[in-house]
Amino acid sequence: MIDVIIIGTGNVSFHFSKVISNRNGLRLIGIYGRGRNIPDYFNKNISYSNDLKKIKYADIYLICVSDDAIGIVSDQLNVSEKSIVVHSSGSINISYLSKHKKHGVLYPLQTFSYNREVNFSSIPIIIEANTNLVLDKIKEISNLISNEIIECDSQKRLSVHISAVFANNFSNHMNVIAEEILKINNIDSDILKPLIHETSKKIQFLKSKEAQTGPAIRNDQITIKKHLNLLKQTKYFDIYKTLTEEIIKSKNEL
Ligand SMILES: NC(=O)c1ccc[n+]([C@@H]2O[C@H](COP(=O)([O-])OP(=O)(O)OC[C@H]3O[C@@H](n4cnc5c(N)ncnc54)[C@H](OP(=O)(O)O)[C@@H]3O)[C@@H](O)[C@H]2O)c1
Repeated sequence: MIDVIIIGTGNVSFHFSKVISNRNGLRLIGIYGRGRNIPDYFNKNISYSNDLKKIKYADIYLICVSDDAIGIVSDQLNVSEKSIVVHSSGSINISYLSKHKKHGVLYPLQTFSYNREVNFSSIPIIIEANTNLVLDKIKEISNLISNEIIECDSQKRLSVHISAVFANNFSNHMNVIAEEILKINNIDSDILKPLIHETSKKIQFLKSKEAQTGPAIRNDQITIKKHLNLLKQTKYFDIYKTLTEEIIKSKNEL
């Protein structure tokens, strides 16, 4: 049995707490946060503490805090030399954990919100470690969580994360803008749901470039000018113009 402690009480911590509690071979023995109490959405039977100084022994400590806090939390953490300390970030270098004899990374490449279920078995987990022995242990733990384990150094993981920001964070923000434009015009945003659904579904069958439609890829200048004219007084003008120019350029690179 591998004993796990999670540090942090946000979205990723919540999903790891669920999957670790449900997998044979892993045992969640505690969560540490900085709040007085564990947030309501966590299972209340999990042992919780906000005192990092009195942290219990675990085989692995999973740091799931904001990227900017990983180094701070790692420095506050005093654990046995037998334990492994990992973080779950796409962009933070493994060296941030170098205070600990055994350390590494266990980065799940997915978008997590506490109020949305995920199936961990199909989530790619990107791993890295400071020694081969530690890597084997992190691999063993990751294999209990997911069927998709990928080894990657910190530099490559950073590129993966940047691409994930484009694919997920930015595309989702485009949906936020789309909803705002509809709201301004008193149109129910649900009207877009089939389109958004199909946009994400079809890239399972087509390359993203092949899936592109719309006025920019057709270079329909009359429509583009009409859209820009309508957006002229809004904060969306520059985004529309930049992305349209980018799509037209990418067509020429096809
Ligand atoms: N969300 C995703 O889709 C996703 C996917 C893959 C990897 N990740 C990575 O997973 C990690 C956690 O992300 P998240 O989305 O779970 O973040 P989150 O929901 O915003 O939660 C962040 C957690 O960090 C804690 N925290 C922030 N600053 C702290 C500090 N100075 N000292 C101690 N704790 C601090 C917060 O505590 P309070 O609640 O007290 O503020 C909270 O528990 C990040 O490294 C992120 O890059 C996220």
